[in-house]
Amino acid sequence: MKIAYTADLHQPITPLWQIEQLVKNVSDFKPEIVILGGDIGESLQDFEKCLRLFRKSLNCPLLVIPGNHDLWVRRFNDSKKLWFEELPQITKDVGCIWLEGNSFVQDGVGITGTIGWYDYSAVDSGINHSELHFAQEKFNFNSDALLIDWEWSDPEFAMRVSTPFLGELNKLENNSAVTKILVATHFPILDEQIHRDAEKPGWSFSNAYAGNLTLGREVVKYKKLGHVISGHTHIEKKGVIERINLNPVSYQVLGADYQKPAMIGIAF
Ligand SMILES: [Fe+2]
Ligand SMILES: [Fe+2]
Repeated sequence: MKIAYTADLHQPITPLWQIEQLVKNVSDFKPEIVILGGDIGESLQDFEKCLRLFRKSLNCPLLVIPGNHDLWVRRFNDSKKLWFEELPQITKDVGCIWLEGNSFVQDGVGITGTIGWYDYSAVDSGINHSELHFAQEKFNFNSDALLIDWEWSDPEFAMRVSTPFLGELNKLENNSAVTKILVATHFPILDEQIHRDAEKPGWSFSNAYAGNLTLGREVVKYKKLGHVISGHTHIEKKGVIERINLNPVSYQVLGADYQKPAMIGIAF
């Protein structure tokens, strides 16, 4: 079983010819499943254009989760509508599978995924503030503060997406046809996936908006879990987590960046 993961394609900042090249690289890997892990396009049109490029060249299932940039809005739109209606619908119209709140099983491998929205739990240890303080400071660190338009607080939205995701994970764990589970997220969910750099001013604090370790602590309890793959930070990470009395879990973060799209190929 070969699975390709890519994310952070950032349409239209990354030129289309680079995405076409990436699609070719993904195609050359001959994956049986491809996962697009969010930050695909900064408008619905860009999101769709990007999905179509993948759909045109690949015959396998294309599983899609959104990233924070996919929910950015500027005019005549709202993030809630994108989240609930427009992104899932366009994904389906293009012939891809919306993985958020959903799961997929093929040849004994169970896959589920989520945006994994941040709840401030990934902030560096030793930094303790109220949720309100993190919310107020976000403006200084992260454009989501300006460009996401909905009424939920970050911890509220994080919880709202975690619950159905964990429901899908439960289903996979209890499915006798599944022997191994792969979890794909946009935001990292494991401490090992978070880049720490105490030397850079603000970095330790801005990690509050870079992951959801509360979710990761739940995910690693699942016996069949074998892989966790994430995007968003643009900083490559790779390793294995040993678990007491359970099989080890391999984790990765995609090292893609603006104008430097990349993929991860996994072969079971
Ligand atoms: Fe990104
Ligand atoms: Fe992101």
